[in-house]
Amino acid sequence: MNIANKLLIATAVSGLLVVNVSADALADKGKKIFETNTQGNCIACHAINGKTLDGPGSFGPVLSGLKHWPDQLIYDTIYDPGESRSKITAMPAFGKSGWLSDEDIKAVVAFLKTIE
Ligand code: HEC
Repeated sequence: MNIANKLLIATAVSGLLVVNVSADALADKGKKIFETNTQGNCIACHAINGKTLDGPGSFGPVLSGLKHWPDQLIYDTIYDPGESRSKITAMPAFGKSGWLSDEDIKAVVAFLKTIE
């Protein structure tokens, strides 16, 4: 194999690594938003199935199986629960109220896709 081919493969492999790392970073950001009381503070109302987090609330349902939900449905539920499929009115509309940005909500969705 000549050097140009080797370089091409090395570039392709490192490209894949970058993609994986940034997906993890997005989920990590979402986890932080989920747990931080000045941000999403989802933890105040939701426990997460399969993950042990300190002090989860029990006002909302235990979140589980969200990796089976379409991304858009999770996004819409967080953006405006009152207008989402489930018409939830006891949960704040994080996107509509401006508490979380589009980017923040996408990060939370990425995190929720990682839970069991
Ligand atoms: C003030 C309490 C409260 C906070 C804070 C809160 N939620 Fe909720 N959430 C609820 C309630 C109550 C429900 C709906 C219960 C029901 O089904 O009627 C709900 C439902 C949901 C659902 C639908 C679950 C299902 O199985 O149908 C998702 C997803 C969700 N919340 C995600 C979040 C995320 C992500 C955050 C943080 C950005 C958050 N919630 C913050 C109270 C809250």
